[in-house]
Amino acid sequence: MTTTTRIHKHQNLNERKVHPDPLKQFQRWFASAINAKLPLAEAMILATATPDGKPSSRAVLLKHVDHNGFVFYTNYRSRKGKELARNPRAALTFSWIPLERQIRIEGIVTKVSPEDSDRYFQSRPRDSQISAIISAQSEEIPHRNVLERMAKKLSERYKNKPIPRPLQWGGYCLKPTRVEFWQGRKARLHDRILYTLLRNGKWKIQRLAP
Ligand SMILES: Cc1cc2nc3c(=O)[nH]c(=O)nc-3n(C[C@H](O)[C@H](O)[C@H](O)COP(=O)(O)O)c2cc1C
Repeated sequence: MTTTTRIHKHQNLNERKVHPDPLKQFQRWFASAINAKLPLAEAMILATATPDGKPSSRAVLLKHVDHNGFVFYTNYRSRKGKELARNPRAALTFSWIPLERQIRIEGIVTKVSPEDSDRYFQSRPRDSQISAIISAQSEEIPHRNVLERMAKKLSERYKNKPIPRPLQWGGYCLKPTRVEFWQGRKARLHDRILYTLLRNGKWKIQRLAP
């Protein structure tokens, strides 16, 4: 038996014991996922949709979470960026299979401040900074060589110089209005605890049938 399977064995979710704030509950679960050494526990599936309801989804990495929401970084002109510009409603799913846990989050996405994007961009490895500049994410390119040639050229241009963040690259923060924690249990009698944000800013907590 692996460490992670041992960890989930006696887990359960109790509506009276979960944290009243879903972001704090998320942080508890995220800490257990990190503790369990799950590979890429910070990977989450981001679902967006066009204004007429055509959905699309892809993985992105959680880079920061606090009371404002869940932050990830990407290209603002990518497919997801274009969809979010027209329809800021989005959903995130964390799927931690070895722990038999899933978290579903829905909310509204806004761009983080340019200062936060600059700070995060500057913390990245130089190769990743160069890739962010040269990749017109989600656009067709004729060949991989095009990227490699541009990467080489830019590495030479910026040799020993700071690399500025391209304006089309930055962060988004999803502020949740609905968060559901799912814990696998015996005989498929799983626990599902749903938090819904009320107009008065408080969170309602409900148990859902599995
Ligand atoms: C594990 C994993 C993590 C990823 N993290 C990011 C990320 O943080 N930001 C990003 O723009 N793309 C990330 N990607 C690539 C996206 O899934 C996707 O291919 C890309 O963002 C283009 O998506 P779009 O065309 O829907 O905009 C990641 C892919 C994987 C498999």
